[in-house]
Amino acid sequence: MTAGVQPSATLAIGEALNALRLQGRDVLPMASGEIRLPAAPRLQQELRTATEHNDYGPVAGIESYREAAAGYWRRRGVDADTSRIITGPGSKALLFASLLALGGDVIVPRPSWVSYTAQATLAGLHVIEIDTVPGAGGVPDPDAVAAAARTARRSGRSIRVVVTTLPDNPTGDIAVTDIVQRLTDVAREHDLIIVSDEIYYDLAFDEASVRGASPINFAPERTIVTTGLTKNLAVGGWRTGFALFPQRGESPSLFDSVCTAASHIWSSPTMPVQHAAAYALTEPPEIVAWMSAALHLHRSVARAANSVLRTEGLLLPETRGTCYLYPDFSLHRDALRAVHNVESSAGLTDLLLRKYAVAALPGSAFGDPHDKLTVRLSTSQLYGSTVQQQQQALDSPDPLTLPWIVENLARLHDAVSALHLPA
Ligand SMILES: Cc1ncc(COP(=O)(O)O)c(C=O)c1O
Repeated sequence: MTAGVQPSATLAIGEALNALRLQGRDVLPMASGEIRLPAAPRLQQELRTATEHNDYGPVAGIESYREAAAGYWRRRGVDADTSRIITGPGSKALLFASLLALGGDVIVPRPSWVSYTAQATLAGLHVIEIDTVPGAGGVPDPDAVAAAARTARRSGRSIRVVVTTLPDNPTGDIAVTDIVQRLTDVAREHDLIIVSDEIYYDLAFDEASVRGASPINFAPERTIVTTGLTKNLAVGGWRTGFALFPQRGESPSLFDSVCTAASHIWSSPTMPVQHAAAYALTEPPEIVAWMSAALHLHRSVARAANSVLRTEGLLLPETRGTCYLYPDFSLHRDALRAVHNVESSAGLTDLLLRKYAVAALPGSAFGDPHDKLTVRLSTSQLYGSTVQQQQQALDSPDPLTLPWIVENLARLHDAVSALHLPA
C-alpha cells in the first residue's frame, strides 16, 4: 500500500522530458535537479577497476568507504568515526530507513524536497509541515516547531523528528546560523531528533556560509546527517550515500536499527561503487579540481539565471548554493489569471511547458499551497545538450560566454517576460 503517495515529481518530469525529446520537442530542461555533467575521468576509472568486487560486503559498507566518509566529515570540523557511519544506495534510501527507525510524528519544512513527506507517509508516520521563515530555507520556523511539539504533547502524540535541508532544495537558500541554532535549542527542549539532509553541502557558493550552519555543529547528540556524491560529483545514477548517526546510549541504537532495516531492504551498497566512492572521499587533487570546476559552473549559471528572474520583477531568494531558483510569480497573478486562466503553480508550470517550452516544477510539489504561484527551476541541465558541450562548460573559466549557455539563459528570459503578455 503506498497510501496515495504520488511518484517522485522530479523523477517523473525527467522521464516525461526524455519522452518529449524523443518526439523531437526542444524543451528548456529546468525541472530536474539531476546534475548533467560527465563524471570525473579518474572516478570512472576507479569504478571500472572495482568491478572484480562482487561480494555483498558488510551491511553498513566497507571499512575504507566509511573511513573515507569519516575523514570527509572531520575535514568539515565534525567529529565522526566509522562506528557511526552507514553507507547506502543513495542518501534517499538512508533518509527513508532513518525515518522508519525513528518513528513518531515528523516535522518537515514547507516548502521542502518532494520526498520527505512521501517517505514519512510510506513509513506510516504522521507529517506536520511547518513554514520556513525568510532567510532560512530548509529550516522550519523554530518557534512554530516548539508550538507544534507542545500541541502534540497535549493531545497525547509525540513528535520525534524534524527534517532540515542544507543548502536548501527548492529555494537554493542557506539558513542563517542563528535560526539553525534556535532550532537545535528547541529540539533539545522537546527531545527531537534532527535529520539534516546535506546532499548539497559541497554546492554552497560560499563555503563560509555553510560551514557551521549544520545542526550537527550545535546538537551532535541528536543530529543525523545524510549526504552522498550525487550532487558534488554528479554521479546520481551510481547511488552513493552515507549517513552519520549520533552517539546515543539506548539499545538498540539508531545505528543498529537503520542497519537492520538496510539488511532487509538493500543488503549493502553496490560493491564497485563503494570502492570508487572511498577513493573520491579521500579528496585526491584531481577530484578536488573537478569539484571546484563544477562549483564554479553551478555558481555562475545559477546566479545569472537568478538575476534574469529578478530583472523580470519576480521575487526569489538569492541562490546561495545548489542549482535551484524558487521564484514567486504572485506579482503577475492578475495577468496570469486574465490572460492565461492560470491560478495555481501547477497551472503555471503547465503553461510554461506547453506555451514556452520551459520545464519546471510547481511549488505545490514541494508542499506550498496550490494557489501560491511558486515554481522551482533548476539550472543543472543548462550546461549543454551533448557531453562535449558539458565538458567545455566544466572546463571554461567563464561559462557565461559559451553560446549554448547564453542561448539557454535568453530562452528563460524570453519565456518569463512573455508570460504576462496577451496570448
Ligand atoms: C534535497 C535532496 N535530498 C536527497 C536527494 C537524494 O539524493 P541521492 O541521490 O543521494 O539519493 C536529493 C536528490 O535530488 C535531494 O534534492
